[in-house]
Amino acid sequence: MLLQTLLLTPLLLVLGCALAPLSKTALLFRKKDSISAWRDEAIQKLWEERRLMGRTPLLASPLLKSFGNAELFFKNESAARTHSLKHRYAWALVLWALVEGHIRENTTVFETSSGNTAVSEAFMCRLIGVKFVAIVPDTIEAVKAAHIEEQGGAVLRVPLGDRLVVARNLTEGRPDRFFMNQFAHADRAEEFHESGDFEHESANVFHEILSQFRALRGPRAVPDFFVHAAGTGGTISSVGRFLKKYALATRVVLADTEHSVYYDYVVHGRFRNESGAPLWVAPGMAGIGFGPMGPAIHGVSTSLTPAVVDLAVKIPDLASVAAMHFLRGIGILGGTSTGVNFVASLHLASKFADAGRRLSVVTLLADHASSYESSYHNGTWVREHFSAHGSFDCWLLVLRRSVELGVDPLRLGACCS
Ligand SMILES: Cc1ncc(COP(=O)(O)O)c(C=O)c1O
Ligand SMILES: *[C@@H]1O[C@H](CO)[C@@H](O)[C@H](O)[C@H]1NC(C)=O
Ligand SMILES: *[C@@H]1O[C@H](CO)[C@@H](O)[C@H](O)[C@H]1NC(C)=O
Ligand SMILES: *[C@@H]1O[C@H](CO)[C@@H](O)[C@H](O)[C@H]1NC(C)=O
Ligand SMILES: *[C@@H]1O[C@H](CO)[C@@H](O)[C@H](O)[C@H]1NC(C)=O
Ligand SMILES: *[C@@H]1O[C@H](CO)[C@@H](O)[C@H](O)[C@H]1NC(C)=O
Repeated sequence: MLLQTLLLTPLLLVLGCALAPLSKTALLFRKKDSISAWRDEAIQKLWEERRLMGRTPLLASPLLKSFGNAELFFKNESAARTHSLKHRYAWALVLWALVEGHIRENTTVFETSSGNTAVSEAFMCRLIGVKFVAIVPDTIEAVKAAHIEEQGGAVLRVPLGDRLVVARNLTEGRPDRFFMNQFAHADRAEEFHESGDFEHESANVFHEILSQFRALRGPRAVPDFFVHAAGTGGTISSVGRFLKKYALATRVVLADTEHSVYYDYVVHGRFRNESGAPLWVAPGMAGIGFGPMGPAIHGVSTSLTPAVVDLAVKIPDLASVAAMHFLRGIGILGGTSTGVNFVASLHLASKFADAGRRLSVVTLLADHASSYESSYHNGTWVREHFSAHGSFDCWLLVLRRSVELGVDPLRLGACCS
């Protein structure tokens, strides 16, 4: 009898469920859920934008040819519709926030940025019809702030290290406001998958690089290295995740700035429980490196995922600034991270190039020089802000020599600081 009851109980429960009338509140809730129609429309607008984005160009450059059989590729992200690598990234963040229900019809989106992310997010927010406020460092170049406003965003300037605190303060307890927090959420938002034959192409930058590289070098070719700096760490982590997921042999190299804690965070697991703020030396390289915003906590204050970074290298800031000027001299107009990326690429070529086998390095031309005419691309400004860092002219000479002779710029430049 007992056994029978035990056996029957689940059956009765199942029947009971099947016979019970549907909950009225559940029906009402679904009916009231008008966000879904608005959301579907917003998401469709973003996919239309993905189609319009197309692909940014991958440029082959002969700059590593003195290093033996080595070649350098720049993925020109300044050709994106809002002129930086952050276009695809803002697209992914806004799409993520819509899917997760963080952005609704009347939400105002807040973001902390050095400028580029804000320009691109302002564009995406305007596209879907929500308001946008950027919290930026008070040292921001006027032209970057103007670009945010041109895209319909509001600009709030605060000290560099205060951006997260201010953004949290302005949004906490306000259901009509959403703090996007690219530092925390890039990790969740950025795609790291292929598209296969699905009509909606992934926006992952390495997905594009791979298909462009293979069009040039053959259907199974992969670059030897992908080199990039990190701000939130979102871009390099999305590339690293893509590469690891598909077991591709390209090694991921973090090009870190001089006073940033990311090198120690990746290599030694440090700065997860201590702030890099006391070690930070202004002005640093705008948009990249990590230090003044407190400890580097994955998923909270940074998206940099150490497990998908293979190598890390630290580049003196003045070398990176000189690299921006050197590249400009040969018609490659890039911003701060383009300079860091280039010095790191030369260093890698000096370590790994080998005449017997072609070495390929892919890096990003992440944004355009025009954002830095008043700062890093202004010789007077550079001499004023970097006088304590050594000799700019010395680094400029070192870079010329390095490219001409195929030697390590970091070794050659040791005497410049
Ligand atoms: C010019 C430039 N390069 C690189 C980065 C860093 O990219 P990520 O935040 O994905 O690490 C930024 C971030 O703002 C940037 O503005
Ligand atoms: C990168 O793209 C921008 C925008 O299209 C263009 O002005 C620039 O010349 C390109 N850079 C290089 C090195 O081709
Ligand atoms: C959004 O705001 C508009 C204008 O104030 C209002 O008509 C509409 O009902 C609001 N929508 C939601 C979902 O709150
Ligand atoms: C948030 O802003 C309010 C009002 O300006 C201020 O009183 C408070 O100290 C701020 N809190 C933080 C954590 O910044
Ligand atoms: C951070 O954590 C490490 C390892 O647990 C510990 O040795 C170190 O003292 C901690 N530092 C701070 C500032 O708490
Ligand atoms: C270059 O920098 C100097 C010193 O900061 C400044 O006075 C000058 O206006 C800057 N030039 C441009 C074009 O922004």
